[in-house]
Amino acid sequence: MSERRFHVVIPCAGSGSRASTAAPKQYALLNDIPMVVHTLNAFQHAVGLAQSVLVVAPEDVTMTDVLKQWPQPDFFVSHTGGATRAQSVLAGLNALKAQGVGADEWVLVHDAARCLITPELIQTLWLACCEDKVGGLLALPLPDTLKAENNGRVGTTLDRTGKWLAQTPQMFKLDMLRQALISAGEAVTDEASAMELAGHSPLLVRSAAFNFKVTYAEDLQMAQAILTDRSPSTRSSVV
Ligand code: CTP
Ligand code: MG
Repeated sequence: MSERRFHVVIPCAGSGSRASTAAPKQYALLNDIPMVVHTLNAFQHAVGLAQSVLVVAPEDVTMTDVLKQWPQPDFFVSHTGGATRAQSVLAGLNALKAQGVGADEWVLVHDAARCLITPELIQTLWLACCEDKVGGLLALPLPDTLKAENNGRVGTTLDRTGKWLAQTPQMFKLDMLRQALISAGEAVTDEASAMELAGHSPLLVRSAAFNFKVTYAEDLQMAQAILTDRSPSTRSSVV
């Protein structure tokens, strides 16, 4: 088994337009803590975390204050976020490379907005992928029946067999992923797609539904409910 050591890129440069929050959704308070801090805390508690990067927008003036209050010793901030998620991820990979991270080191890319990730799920991904030549991603077998739309009505029902919902983290080697993203351009919405276009077949690693991405306003309420359920004070009062 490889020594457990990985770097993380957290793309955190989006505007959160679909969540309709006043500030970008990564700063929305959940249990009085900004969403992105919940995300970072899970990685800080995962065994094997090495120097990692949080990619924010060039104009971001909030993160510095957030990290003063909730320090994340293994993360540095890079104000190099781009117009698309793929650009922000590539900027993060370049920042790690500039810090001397080796071409063959494992990198986990994880959305700041997937704030319910746990150290256990990170470990599940690591154990499944660390001996693999390509790497892989957390994903969930599609639970519902899948419909293709035609003008607001059902066009057809698609076979859901063998279909998975891609989540993050997605775990690949630094230079393989950099090259794949450079070749893929901005169209890809996750790292695995870039690796697929480069001819690789990432491993699908079964995840959990709770690792959803906070996208819409109602997702914030669901994330809040789950975090409240997890908090020690809630647990002791239930007993
Ligand atoms: N992201 C990023 N750079 C971008 C766009 C997105 O770093 N140019 C990050 C977001 O901050 C988020 C993750 O990628 O952590 C997933 O993106 P998404 O959920 O789409 O977030 P937003 O783009 O912020 O939201 P929306 O699409 O609703 O505007
Ligand atoms: Mg987006």
